[in-house]
Amino acid sequence: MKIALIGFGKMGKEVESLAISKTHEIVAKCHTSALPTQELFKDCDVVIDFSTPHSVVDHIRMVMSAKKPMVVGTTGWYDQLPQVRDFVDNQDGALIYASNFSVGVQMFYALTAAASKLADKFPDYDAFIQEIHHVQKKDSPSGTALTLGNIVLKHMKRKKKIMTDSILGTIESDSLHIASTRSGSVPGTHIVGFDSAADTIELKHTARNRAGFAAGALHAAEWIVKHKGVHDFSELFPAP
Ligand SMILES: NC(=O)c1ccc[n+]([C@@H]2O[C@H](COP(=O)([O-])OP(=O)(O)OC[C@H]3O[C@@H](n4cnc5c(N)ncnc54)[C@H](OP(=O)(O)O)[C@@H]3O)[C@@H](O)[C@H]2O)c1
Repeated sequence: MKIALIGFGKMGKEVESLAISKTHEIVAKCHTSALPTQELFKDCDVVIDFSTPHSVVDHIRMVMSAKKPMVVGTTGWYDQLPQVRDFVDNQDGALIYASNFSVGVQMFYALTAAASKLADKFPDYDAFIQEIHHVQKKDSPSGTALTLGNIVLKHMKRKKKIMTDSILGTIESDSLHIASTRSGSVPGTHIVGFDSAADTIELKHTARNRAGFAAGALHAAEWIVKHKGVHDFSELFPAP
């Protein structure tokens, strides 16, 4: 495939090296000193975006107008998903996104769904989420933590809302707390916990490096060039 990259930071570079090792070709690399333009995408088969939350929706509009399929790895824009979905559908475009392109995390989502369903039957068990990332991460909490939170909310009927700010008092019983820590170079750690008076159960995913995200993004690129519409990468990993 001929791939155009928007964002050539930590993730863009990771995608480039894996793509080249798989004999794909990188035909454009966009960043702040070489901003994306519609013209840059005319020779590519697919565009992969790992840029910033504040610029990604403009990129999506540009790529859809260029009639190219797109993989969006950038997080922190999902409040605009309904408008993006309308725009992509109106353009008869193709877009796949994920808060986390790691295959292991997709398995973690399925395990979280199953554990939340089970915990829902046992009122003694409360739920919580913790996430740890490197100090340069721009959004907080992580998109992955919010996805995990929404999975817990969907399957634990007692939990009605996500709480992401620091808690300055007691937490309401229908709130699910997501705590974020920023330190050092941590690529991404997520814990989903279920706590009772007697014990704690923790499901933990630790990313060792960024290679898993790049592999998933390339897998998504190969898939989206044959599809239309807006898709969440998790559709490719249905829960058992
Ligand atoms: N979904 C996943 O699996 C996954 C995994 C890891 C990260 N992420 C997300 O992916 C995004 C990027 O992460 P990263 O670690 O690669 O960040 P990064 O190292 O800071 O790289 C961001 C890149 O975006 C470029 N950029 C900034 N504004 C731009 C604009 N207006 N147009 C085009 N490019 C622009 C930057 O340009 P300069 O180089 O010129 O500064 C840089 O190359 C973040 O949202 C992060 O949360 C997602």
